[in-house]
Amino acid sequence: MNTTLINTVKSSFLNKFEAEPVLIFSPGRINIIGEHTDYNDGFVFPAAVNKGIVAAIQKSESAESVAFAVDKNESITFDLNNLKPSTKGSWQNYILGVISEIQKRHHTIGNFNIAFGGDIPGGAGMSSSAALENSVVFGLNTVFDLGLSKHDMILISQKAEHNYVGVNCGIMDQYASMFGIENHALLLDCRTVEATPFKIDFKDYELLLINTNVKHSLSDSAYNDRRSVCESVSELLNIKALRDATVTDLNTVKTKITPENYQKALFIIEENNRAIAASKAMKADDLVTLGELIYASHDGLKNQYKVSCEELDFLVSETKANPNILGARMMGGGFGGCTINLIAKSEVDTFKDHIAEAYKTKFEKECSIYEVKLSDGTHIINELKQ
Ligand code: GLA
Repeated sequence: MNTTLINTVKSSFLNKFEAEPVLIFSPGRINIIGEHTDYNDGFVFPAAVNKGIVAAIQKSESAESVAFAVDKNESITFDLNNLKPSTKGSWQNYILGVISEIQKRHHTIGNFNIAFGGDIPGGAGMSSSAALENSVVFGLNTVFDLGLSKHDMILISQKAEHNYVGVNCGIMDQYASMFGIENHALLLDCRTVEATPFKIDFKDYELLLINTNVKHSLSDSAYNDRRSVCESVSELLNIKALRDATVTDLNTVKTKITPENYQKALFIIEENNRAIAASKAMKADDLVTLGELIYASHDGLKNQYKVSCEELDFLVSETKANPNILGARMMGGGFGGCTINLIAKSEVDTFKDHIAEAYKTKFEKECSIYEVKLSDGTHIINELKQ
C-alpha cells in the first residue's frame, strides 16, 4: 500500500472539509491477454494491482457537494438535483457520471465531499478511470448505506463512462478493479460477468509494465468506432456478439464487409481464442506458449485491429531478440499507455537499463517502468490486510 498517498489524501480531506472521512482504495488493473474482447461478450484475463486511487469521502451538511482532485489541486462544486456532464476537464465526469447512474436507479444520496488522488498516471492503460469510478460508487454505497452489490456497482461505473464520459467501454476494467484478488488474475467471462481466479506464480518470471508515457488523441473515438464495427458484423451474422462466431461463420459474410472490418472481426475471434488458450497454458505451467500468445495478441492489435502506435510497437520489438523475454504486447485500449512483458526475473535490471536508454534515444522522451503486485479489489482502507 502506498501509505504516502493515503496520508496525503486523508490530510487534504481533513484540511478542506474538517470531518473524518471513510478511506477507500480502488486499484488499477493489468490485463495478461484478451484485449477488446470484453465488449464482444468474450474472455479477458485481468488482475487488480497495488496501484490505483485513494478516495476520502463523507456526508456533508452543506447545500452542495464538492469533489477535490488532490493531485491536480482542482475542485468542483455541484448540486445533486441538477447534474449534468461537465464540459471541461478530465476527471469530473467520472464522478458526476457515477452519481447520475445511482440516481437513475432511484437510490437517494445526500450531499457529500470527496477528495481523491492516485499513483497511476491517466492514459497508462491501467484503468485509473475505472478505479476512480469504483472508488466513488463504493464510497457512496458505504456512507449512504445504499445496499448495492459489487455487481450493481461495476455496472454503475461502466454506465457512467458510457453516458458522461462518452466511451462505450466493456466491463473488464470495472470488474477487475472491484473484484481483484491478491496474487490472482481473473479469467472473466464478460457475458456472464463471472470469473475464475488463477493463482499467479510465474516462478523465475514476472510481469513488467513499460509506460510509453504517450496517449494519442482520438483514442476515445477510435475505441467507439471499433466497438461499432464489431456490433455491425455481429448484426450481419445474426448473433448477439462476436464471441458467438467462428472464423468459418465470419467467412460467410466476408464479401459483405470491407477487408479492414473483416480483419478487425477476425482479430476479435482469434483474440478470444487466445485468452482461453492462455488460461490452459497457465494451468499447464507452460510459460513459453503463454508468451507466444502474448506476442500474437500484439501482432493482431497492431496489424488487424489497428489500435497500437509507434511507441508501443517499438517497446515490443525491442524485446523480440531477447531470449529472456517470453512475450510482450500493448495493454488496454491502445494508442499509448503500457506494454506488458513476461520476463525472466534475472533479466529485469539489465532490460530496464536497455529499454530506458533505447526509448529515450528513439523518441527523445522517457518511458516509465513499473513492477506491480496483484492485489485485492476496491475496499475500505481500515479493513485492509496488512
Ligand atoms: C479499455 C476499456 C475496456 C477494454 C479495453 C481493451 O480499457 O475500458 O473495457 O475494452 O480497453 O481490452
